[in-house]
Amino acid sequence: MTASDKKLSSARLTQPTNKFVEEFTASVTFDKRMYRQDIQGSIAHATMLCKVDVLTASERDQIINGLQQIENEIDNDQFEWSIAQEDVHMNIESRLIKLIGEVGKKLHTGRSRNDQVATDVRLYLRDMIVPIRSELQRLRSTLLDVAEREFATIMPGFTHLQTAQPVTFGHHMLAWFEMLSRDLERLDDCTKRVNSLPLGAAALAGTTFPIDREYTAELLGFERICRNSLDAVSDRDFAIEFNSFASLLMMHLSRFSEELIIWSSAQFDFVDLGDAFCTGSSIMPQKKNPDVPELVRGKTSRVYGNLFNLLTLMKNQPLAYNKDNQEDKEPLFDTIDTLLGSLRVYADMLSVITVKKDNMRLAALKGYATATDLADYLVRKGVAFRDAHEVVGLSVAFAIKQQKDLSALTLQELQQFSDQIGDDVFSVLTLEGSVAARNHLGGTAPEQVKKAIQIARSEL
Ligand code: ARG
Repeated sequence: MTASDKKLSSARLTQPTNKFVEEFTASVTFDKRMYRQDIQGSIAHATMLCKVDVLTASERDQIINGLQQIENEIDNDQFEWSIAQEDVHMNIESRLIKLIGEVGKKLHTGRSRNDQVATDVRLYLRDMIVPIRSELQRLRSTLLDVAEREFATIMPGFTHLQTAQPVTFGHHMLAWFEMLSRDLERLDDCTKRVNSLPLGAAALAGTTFPIDREYTAELLGFERICRNSLDAVSDRDFAIEFNSFASLLMMHLSRFSEELIIWSSAQFDFVDLGDAFCTGSSIMPQKKNPDVPELVRGKTSRVYGNLFNLLTLMKNQPLAYNKDNQEDKEPLFDTIDTLLGSLRVYADMLSVITVKKDNMRLAALKGYATATDLADYLVRKGVAFRDAHEVVGLSVAFAIKQQKDLSALTLQELQQFSDQIGDDVFSVLTLEGSVAARNHLGGTAPEQVKKAIQIARSEL
């Protein structure tokens, strides 16, 4: 072993690490993406050590300058990552020692990689929550734009994927908006627990140095410190919570994708997703495939997988830190990347979606979507709802035989089923009448959609 290959933590061991074990145990290939956070945490640690007189001001400054130079090297792709140095933490520390000499060896005073890595992951996740949150907001705002454009556009509403009652497309978009609003709440709630400082826990029991953890927390912008050193190094709840937020959000996007895929089929033909978000087929020249929603639906399963990965990773670990925890990063990073990509592509795709109003209207006219309106009409005339339900059932059966819509039946034809039906019935049988009549908080009436959009915009 040459001196430069020598590991920082191997003095106790007399044999060099087996080459394959070195590769097997190394995490630098994937944890190097936290280099900024690692350096940020080290700078705060050194600053705190100086404040409590463990480092002199000159030592602190040399360490900080060295770390900043390393950050520069990594930014500019001039840093040589080494598997032998195992992880991002050791790579940076060994480079620091090479750069500034003896003083560099003082940085790790009162710290362990256990509290260091827990801090880095929290800092990294906190940083990535910023673009995730803003992409989620952009998607919510795009949904409101679509809802506003289509506030009065009529489409068939479905239950069991069978035509149920007419709804407005704006109302349908606002249903997605509501789901994403709850997702945002969940993200903000979990961020509170991400934003807690483990540093100072050292390996597991704390340190013999007079550290000032509150000062370090302040330097790193953490709202609070992890209060128990054992918990601080072993807790990965925050990552699991984030992943469960992400799973719910992906579940919503996946359901939404399912609708977009169905709606863009030739059989429905309700929407056009825009050529930039679809691909062709290598064999069938006529094809325009909804790849983006399909992929988002597909990627949902990897986010669920990551959640289960993390839950299973933690379920049998005794306190405190175990090397198992190194396995938390890849699933967490994959969830972050997948979520961010899915949100970004969704906001872009929805901002150019074309809604085919005429096709939606034609579809709403099929399937007796206003049958409930006829029953409600009879109730207003004094018929009990169950009896009204039966009258309308018979009317629909008759209309199906005649191959006509309810609104196309004559007054006499309708009156064979109830003498309570008058010529004012036809206005309730129209699609426009049907949606306009559902004019209460949370209803599908265009007027309500407008109001809901206004409220949503003021909250955005
Ligand atoms: N690479 C390690 C991880 O990701 C850093 C902590 C290592 N600590 C230790 N005691 N081996 O968890």
